[in-house]
Amino acid sequence: MIELIGRSRKKTVEAEVGKTILELALQADVDWGFNCKRGTCSRCRCQVLEGIEYLSEPNKAELLGLDDEELEEGFRLGCQTKVNSDGAITVQNKPYF
Ligand code: FES
Repeated sequence: MIELIGRSRKKTVEAEVGKTILELALQADVDWGFNCKRGTCSRCRCQVLEGIEYLSEPNKAELLGLDDEELEEGFRLGCQTKVNSDGAITVQNKPYF
C-alpha cells in the first residue's frame, strides 16, 4: 500500500507496480502539484517518508533536478518515480513553493 499525502488531502491506495507516484495520486484524487509530467518543473517534488526500497532508482531527470542532499533526504519527483514492488510506502508532496 502507498500513503499519498497531498497539500490538503491524503489517501492510502494500492501501490500499483509500474505506476508513478503522480499517477497514483491523481488517480486517487489527492491534490498533488504537477505541471510538466516530464521531470522539469519540480512541482511534483515529494519526500519519501517510508518504503523508498519499493520505488525505482532516481532516473536521469531526477538526478538533474534534485541535488545530492535532497536525494539523500528521500526527495523525488513524483512524475518520475515508479513503484517497483508493493510494500508500506509513504510519500508527501513537498514542492518548493
Ligand atoms: S510534473 Fe513537472 S517535474 Fe514532475
